[in-house]
Amino acid sequence: MELNNCVALVTGGAHGIGRALCRALHMEGVRLAVADLDIECAEKVASEVNGLAVRLDVSQQQEIIAAVEHVEAELGPIDIFISNAGVAFGDGPDGAASAPDEHWQACLDINLMAHVYAARAMIPLMKGRGGGCLVNVVSAAGLLTQVGEAAYTASKHAAVGFAESLAITHGGDGIHVCLVCPQAVATRMIGVDEDSEVEDGSIGFGGNDVDGILSTEYVADCILAGIQEERFLVLPHPQVSTYFQRKADDHDRWISGMRRFRRRIKGQTNELQ
Ligand SMILES: NC(=O)c1ccc[n+]([C@@H]2O[C@H](COP(=O)([O-])OP(=O)(O)OC[C@H]3O[C@@H](n4cnc5c(N)ncnc54)[C@H](O)[C@@H]3O)[C@@H](O)[C@H]2O)c1
Repeated sequence: MELNNCVALVTGGAHGIGRALCRALHMEGVRLAVADLDIECAEKVASEVNGLAVRLDVSQQQEIIAAVEHVEAELGPIDIFISNAGVAFGDGPDGAASAPDEHWQACLDINLMAHVYAARAMIPLMKGRGGGCLVNVVSAAGLLTQVGEAAYTASKHAAVGFAESLAITHGGDGIHVCLVCPQAVATRMIGVDEDSEVEDGSIGFGGNDVDGILSTEYVADCILAGIQEERFLVLPHPQVSTYFQRKADDHDRWISGMRRFRRRIKGQTNELQ
């Protein structure tokens, strides 16, 4: 896909990976809508990338519909919709099932249903125009499992399944679906200052950065390449592919290995349940 002069809407564009995506897309000549709950920071990013700031709660279907209408009226047809906003809260004190219902619901609403609402709003429009691109920023947790994050992991697994269904059903309509599954990225989500300089591949930021943390800029470049090359799966940490194969080859052995991994990182931090 040729990016120059496209219109893109990025949810969660005010911070972290979304902010880096806005900056990288701007450099490629894309006209941007920076959509976020945090309108103050969305406005800062929008002014940097000469874009349009939109206040949006992605968990509300009506707000996604209204945002699409507003952005199309201001910038023209949306070619690329990037569902990037996401949340994680950690497990509750008694393990995998013990997080409060409101955390489970928020994970399901924001990490999964927002992708469904975006697809419902965009697919009829994109089909009518002969195509478009839906990017779903999910997580390696959706292919594997994030230790200490049961609700996040379950919602991200569901989001992987939904992206596969979208790609299978709508590939023939000219709609490119891009599924992004990173491990640790240097953002507030994992307790890293998003403005700090991070060397790609460095460790020491917490138990789940075992394969090295990546900068938001690096991850944004991987996503841009995935859009341009019209790939389905984007894995900024290439190791994820090997782990995914090992899991498929012998699921029981993989669970035993993950138990050992959990014990190891639990010894390093008291935060994990
Ligand atoms: N940081 C990581 O290690 C990592 C790894 C894998 C996947 N991811 C995924 O990448 C995506 C971006 O996360 P990030 O690391 O940049 O986190 P972040 O916390 O820096 O940014 C998330 C953004 O989403 C916005 N947001 C949250 N709830 C919203 C809502 N209801 N409506 C609109 N906006 C909302 C926040 O205001 C924020 O701007 C998420 O889907 C996350 O699950 C992150």
